[in-house]
Amino acid sequence: MNFTGSNILSVEQFDLDSIQTVFQTADRMQPYARRQKRTKVLDGAILGNLFFEPSTRTRVSFGTAFNLLGGEVRETTGMESSALAKGESLYDTARVLSSYSDIIAMRHPKSGSVAEFAEGSRVPVINGGDGANEHPTQALLDLYTIKKELQHHGHDINGMHICMIGDLKFGRTVHSLSRLLAMYKNIRFTLISPKELAMPDAIIDELVRGNHQITITDQVAGLLDADIVYQTRIQQERFTTPQEADLYRGKFRLNSEIYTKHYKPNTVIMHPLPRDSRAEANELDNDLNQNPNLAIFRQADNGVLIRMALFALTLGVADLIEKYECDVNWYSEKRHSY
Ligand code: CP
Repeated sequence: MNFTGSNILSVEQFDLDSIQTVFQTADRMQPYARRQKRTKVLDGAILGNLFFEPSTRTRVSFGTAFNLLGGEVRETTGMESSALAKGESLYDTARVLSSYSDIIAMRHPKSGSVAEFAEGSRVPVINGGDGANEHPTQALLDLYTIKKELQHHGHDINGMHICMIGDLKFGRTVHSLSRLLAMYKNIRFTLISPKELAMPDAIIDELVRGNHQITITDQVAGLLDADIVYQTRIQQERFTTPQEADLYRGKFRLNSEIYTKHYKPNTVIMHPLPRDSRAEANELDNDLNQNPNLAIFRQADNGVLIRMALFALTLGVADLIEKYECDVNWYSEKRHSY
């Protein structure tokens, strides 16, 4: 894959070599993300950070990543505060905002909208989530986290057993992650969801074509050899009414007792976040917060590294990061887990 000047719209653009390039570049971002050093490689560049759907991690980590590379960030958040609410097309919005920016990150509730926007943009566009379709940067950070966590236990992605639980129909993170994992070898997928919220057939077909082992069930059982459990939220915003989502909320919970009963002691617990912590859902209980296998915050931290890597690669400055390095004046005793 030639990164320079490319949009990042789908995980389909990646192969194992390009994934490795992203991960190697992400590894080099550690000292900057920890604020041990600065790089001004993107000094003068502007990120247009356009979030037309709620976000905490993706929006802020895109902005943080760009700032850490020396660039500046301009944002718009929410459909109602943008001219899209007045009937402006994605094409016109893209033509205008791509004049104000050197690169754009965008989230929008409609599947395919970010690709449509990219057609009108004169600068690279990165998909921060388009409806129930894709979330490629999340998938890359999830895969990076899986690799690091398994390495810690002396294991590899090839041959692992991952259990995905929850809303596999509307959860775009599990769609994109499954497609990336399909490129590896002999993975065992256990897909646990209510029947109505099962993984889409198109993604199952990709896993079948990759000769992976797939178990589809609505029961949490027989998981004692899972390496990764990837819990997801019921995507209320994709249902016709909140009451419809209520039918499924709280069906699959993970707490310390369930973890001890159903998983081996080192199973890594992941979740793209946000987790729904309301009592009626409580899909990932706070009683796991001190469990060393809970990787959810390391996973979120890795989002900064991966997004820094993607900015550096798509803007063609990955070879110049260290050249524009400088010392930091500010120092914190706090250390981050990147
Ligand atoms: N994981 C993720 O996309 O989180 P946000 O919705 O907070 O961006």
